[in-house]
Amino acid sequence: MHAKIIGTGSYLPAKTLTNFDLEKIVDTTDEWIVSRSGIHQRHIAADGEATSDLALQASLRAIEMAGISANDIDLIIVATTCPDKIFPSTACILQDKLGIKNGGAAFDMQAVCGGFVYALNTADLYIRGGQARTVLVVGAEIMSRMLDWKDRTTCVLFGDGAGAVILQASDAPGILAAKLHSDGQHHALLRVDGSICDGVVQGDPFIRMEGQAVFKFAVTVLSRVVDEVLTQAGLKDTDIDWLVPHQANIRIIEATAKKLGLSLDNVVVTVADHGNTSSASIPLALDVAVRDGRIVAGQNVLLEAIGGGFTWGAVLLRW
Ligand code: UT7
Repeated sequence: MHAKIIGTGSYLPAKTLTNFDLEKIVDTTDEWIVSRSGIHQRHIAADGEATSDLALQASLRAIEMAGISANDIDLIIVATTCPDKIFPSTACILQDKLGIKNGGAAFDMQAVCGGFVYALNTADLYIRGGQARTVLVVGAEIMSRMLDWKDRTTCVLFGDGAGAVILQASDAPGILAAKLHSDGQHHALLRVDGSICDGVVQGDPFIRMEGQAVFKFAVTVLSRVVDEVLTQAGLKDTDIDWLVPHQANIRIIEATAKKLGLSLDNVVVTVADHGNTSSASIPLALDVAVRDGRIVAGQNVLLEAIGGGFTWGAVLLRW
């Protein structure tokens, strides 16, 4: 039994924050942000809007494209680093918002920007193991609430959004290969240190990042993990029709594409419109390219991401 994606959906909050808006908040310029990251704007969730609300909108669109009912879903995995609450999980809250009664399992997955590939790989294993038939996988984040708006090295890079896919058991191949990695030795390079103790946030509640170190590590390991999944599937880099990378930085995307010998014409790039939305970025980009007709049945699509931890991985699938 294979796991095949039968629907995609995405959602970006209406409010945008452009680079020119940021010029008024911190010591930065549109030129610096565009040249270093490729980002032009990011979307910011409204006050009172929760991660599960973003997840709900993306999920409803994916459910509609898949042509299923929410009650057909027997597993929900929400990749998020910005859960609504410490508990219950955002996945359980989403299950309720979707009106699912007597559903199967629902849980969150925390692998930061690597979260979507982690969740997709997990969903694939559930389907291939016969434990689930129809799975909703979501990446949803409100990164803007973890940003220090006085720290120009981070606040210009991140944004809010959600993307979702519906996977279903199928006789035809869907996910062909997947490989995940992590290396906790580097946990200090990209982090939010804060925790809650006696009802009070202890430590620093904002994202801190050693940008250059993350950049160098990302470029090295992403091309390596891409090679691993290609070997696993018995395919070559020339067999890739579309690369849908984590949308953190155009320069990391370009470097990875170059190592693969792929033209940017075969890479789905949406980072300009929403910045780094962490686990939401791959399903957001995937949804754009499916809906505009670039990704069509029979094509080989490669997804890859890296995030804090570090966690990283790749998933290769046949559309
Ligand atoms: O999911 C993974 C998430 N993380 C990433 O993908 C981030 C990976 N890293 C990067 O993308 C890049 O390292 C950054 C975009 C974060 C930074 O680009 P960089 O080319 O590595 O710049 P830098 O850190 O070497 O900084 C160069 C200069 C510094 O000034 P000095 O020391 O040369 O005078 C910074 O203070 O740019 C300065 N700078 C800024 N200037 C204007 C840093 N942030 C800004 C800013 N606006 N927002």
